[in-house]
Amino acid sequence: EKGGYDHFMLKEIYEQPSVIKDTYRGRLLADKGIIKLGGLEEYIPKFVNADRIIIVACGTSWHAGLVAEYIFEDLARIPVEVEYASEFRYRNPIITEKDVVIAISQSGETADTLAAIKLAKQKGAFVYGICNVVGSTISRETHSGTYTHAGPEIGVASTKAFTTQITVLTMIALKLAKVKGTISKTDYMMYLRELEMIPAHVEAALKSNDDIEEIAKVFKDATNFLYLGRGYNFPVALEGALKLKEISYIHAEGYPAAEMKHGPIALIDEHMPVVVIAINSDHYGKVVSNIEEIKARKGKIIAVVTEGDTAVKELADYCMEVPKTPETLTPLVTTIPLQLLSYHIAVMLNKNVDQPRNLAKSVTVE
Ligand code: F6R
Repeated sequence: EKGGYDHFMLKEIYEQPSVIKDTYRGRLLADKGIIKLGGLEEYIPKFVNADRIIIVACGTSWHAGLVAEYIFEDLARIPVEVEYASEFRYRNPIITEKDVVIAISQSGETADTLAAIKLAKQKGAFVYGICNVVGSTISRETHSGTYTHAGPEIGVASTKAFTTQITVLTMIALKLAKVKGTISKTDYMMYLRELEMIPAHVEAALKSNDDIEEIAKVFKDATNFLYLGRGYNFPVALEGALKLKEISYIHAEGYPAAEMKHGPIALIDEHMPVVVIAINSDHYGKVVSNIEEIKARKGKIIAVVTEGDTAVKELADYCMEVPKTPETLTPLVTTIPLQLLSYHIAVMLNKNVDQPRNLAKSVTVE
């Protein structure tokens, strides 16, 4: 059932081009300029009139929520707060009937997320679910929602759930942006076409697998890793670090690149690999200077770069290429090499990739 792959995790990483397509199939009609999400249509006024959107989730799903914060605010101009479900529910949060709560959960069974949903419902908020498991508790407890169509995710480390969650959240944001008029017709059409091209871009990113395996060989014995990204790719840095921690048991931290100088830079020496998401974006120049600061302290740079990049390639020790796509959509491609990097390191360290110690696929205790 691993379909010829050594582990479920690798199989699930490679399934991403097809499950991203499954997730938008019949919902995204790029040529016609249509996004149609069954669970969303009748609730669009709730979203459009909401004072804010509160996203609640845990772990990787929380990282998808952070990506969504950038996308929703940028495209649909709706204020978004992203909360760890476990913190949200215990701090007497301010929730009103004018709030829309989006709960994101692969399993649909995460106890903390479920508890946050119940609290939000009690306070009168409209609660929308994004789940992968059909008929799961969270999908039943929410007022409405959209399923990701990632198929069963067996590997404990979440991979395809993350990219399909981002796919759904992007479609919702684009739909709302169109209804609200916060996006131009041209940009809207461009994003729809670009979203349709993501599966091919992910496929292309997967082609670097052998090179990434070589990079993994070089760094597998490191005891710490730093992951840096800015903007849309800050949450991707957090997710990259989480993947490495979970399956290789190497300590890793994700940081917004610009925060490095406010503390973590003290950690940098010749033993510290720093994974930097340095794609072409508004922040490119800033990220290049972050890389220079790390090099000046002898840190080792593993950079995720856009195909055809030259400046970062000259500075970085190793590069992992991803195809060019609008910045808003880059998390869908930059995530791929980071998944592969953590996978290969864990395999080389002989760790139980699919069932890491101390972790369960769904966390049903609070
Ligand atoms: C990370 C991971 C966990 C889950 C978290 C939430 O690889 O698997 O961090 O993302 O436990 O799970 P769901 O999405 O099922 O609510």
